[in-house]
Amino acid sequence: MALRVAVIGSGPAGIYTAEALVKQSAEAVQVDVLERLPTPYGLVRYGVAPDHTSIKSIANYLRKVLELPQVRFLGGVTLGTHVSVEDLLGLYDAVVYCTGAMVDRKLGIPGEDLPGSVAATDFVNWYCGHPDVDPGRFTLDSSEIAVIGVGNVAVDVVRVLAKTADELRATDVPHDVLQRLEESQVKAIHMVGRRGPEHAKFTLKELRELGDLANADVCVRPDEAVVLGGDFPRQVQGNIKVLQSWAAREPVGHPRRLDVRFWLRPVEILGTERVEGLKLERTRLSEEGRVVGTGEFETLNVGMVLRSVGYQSVPLPGVPFSEQTMTVPNVAGRVREREYVAGWLKRGPTGVIGTNKSDAAETVRTLLADLQGRERVHGGPVEALLAERGVHPVTYEEWLAIEAAETELAKTLGRGERVKIVGLEAMLRACRP
Ligand SMILES: Cc1cc2nc3c(=O)[nH]c(=O)nc-3n(C[C@H](O)[C@H](O)[C@H](O)COP(=O)(O)OP(=O)(O)OC[C@H]3O[C@@H](n4cnc5c(N)ncnc54)[C@H](O)[C@@H]3O)c2cc1C
Ligand SMILES: NC(=O)c1ccc[n+]([C@@H]2O[C@H](COP(=O)([O-])OP(=O)(O)OC[C@H]3O[C@@H](n4cnc5c(N)ncnc54)[C@H](OP(=O)(O)O)[C@@H]3O)[C@@H](O)[C@H]2O)c1
Repeated sequence: MALRVAVIGSGPAGIYTAEALVKQSAEAVQVDVLERLPTPYGLVRYGVAPDHTSIKSIANYLRKVLELPQVRFLGGVTLGTHVSVEDLLGLYDAVVYCTGAMVDRKLGIPGEDLPGSVAATDFVNWYCGHPDVDPGRFTLDSSEIAVIGVGNVAVDVVRVLAKTADELRATDVPHDVLQRLEESQVKAIHMVGRRGPEHAKFTLKELRELGDLANADVCVRPDEAVVLGGDFPRQVQGNIKVLQSWAAREPVGHPRRLDVRFWLRPVEILGTERVEGLKLERTRLSEEGRVVGTGEFETLNVGMVLRSVGYQSVPLPGVPFSEQTMTVPNVAGRVREREYVAGWLKRGPTGVIGTNKSDAAETVRTLLADLQGRERVHGGPVEALLAERGVHPVTYEEWLAIEAAETELAKTLGRGERVKIVGLEAMLRACRP
């Protein structure tokens, strides 16, 4: 009898886990990938920026895994709502949790909950057409916007705000979102780092793209671009060089302006009914290397604040979770007997898509070693249990029908290769006419 494994989540970690199980297992294996959305690929579909088409094309690799005869995709199935850990352990030999990191980290400053103070997670979900966020959710009616954080997500968000709607027309951005971007009143974007250029988390390739924006001047203050010391990794040296070259540039009068700022930490989001400003404090590093305030303040007159300070995982019902690391405690992927974890839920929200491949391979090595020689669980198909609960999973073929409808929509609208269909009902209508 084949080894039967349930993988929860169909992002890169889930799909690389399925692939590793098929590749590494010496005996027959059957993998069910259970996903809460009707669509696979996790953040590759709902995170990677729409204009980064070459990165998005990694989905073409992931789809080959879902098409393996040993692997099945079951969409619209949520662990914790439709199935429990106990259900799964009664049906499968092992379960691998790969549910990623879905929510934003908090800043913990006054004004954070004011209307107009927005988590990057929500903003990214919006422009990526995630069914959790209504396409009408954001109106870009402020002329100035601050983006807090200097990681790659902040760079994505800034780029989408700085580009014209025309520059994004050929992407898969939902049509309602494109219309909102067309009506954008944004003139100035401030991207704010609480430490120096040498500490920024963005990568060189992504940073460089900001310097080539056709619709925005990129500005760096010479005093904030100064970096003391010099023994930095190549990637950091590259960032510093680019930022210093921008500090020497004169704006050429593009319609939008991007100010990349350093050594400023947010202390309060100002406003009564909605965001009216962002109060920042100049910082320095203490002798122990901690960010400390200098008592010198500055206010940005922004009408929107986008908080891009990292993602975090949420606990899954019945699965151990560390509130300290916000991950599932594990040893080389093992959580408990027959329970495993991979991806962002295992190691936190860092690393690129490829990092999840080696991570998943480690988890699968642990799993296969643990289960070798162990008696199989003789469980039936999960569909029977789900049907009793009125849940009919979206099959891989149905997902392909959603994809085809997105291609058709793009044709009808005279836009690129695909336009995202938003909303669970619309997606289900597309695959179950
Ligand atoms: C905005 C953004 C842009 C990025 N851009 C890039 C990039 O350009 N290049 C790059 O290399 N990396 C990029 N990354 C990093 C990359 O996306 C991650 O490394 C990767 O997606 C993590 O994989 P994962 O499978 O752990 O999580 P995810 O991709 O988040 O997948 C988790 C999956 O689990 C599902 N799920 C959640 N809860 C449940 C549940 N209870 N039951 C069933 N299913 C559930 C989710 O719907 C999702 O499909 C980006 C990250 C972000 C946040
Ligand atoms: N194109 C790509 O390859 C791509 C695109 C998007 C995302 N990703 C990857 O996805 C992962 C997540 O990216 P991310 O940008 O969300 O996270 P990140 O890389 O961890 O960056 C988070 C940023 O927020 C700042 N920050 C954290 N807490 C803060 C606070 N309280 N006040 C002010 N600033 C604060 C951090 O500054 P400190 O350093 O001072 O803490 C850092 O600048 C990364 O590994 C990233 O590389 C890759």
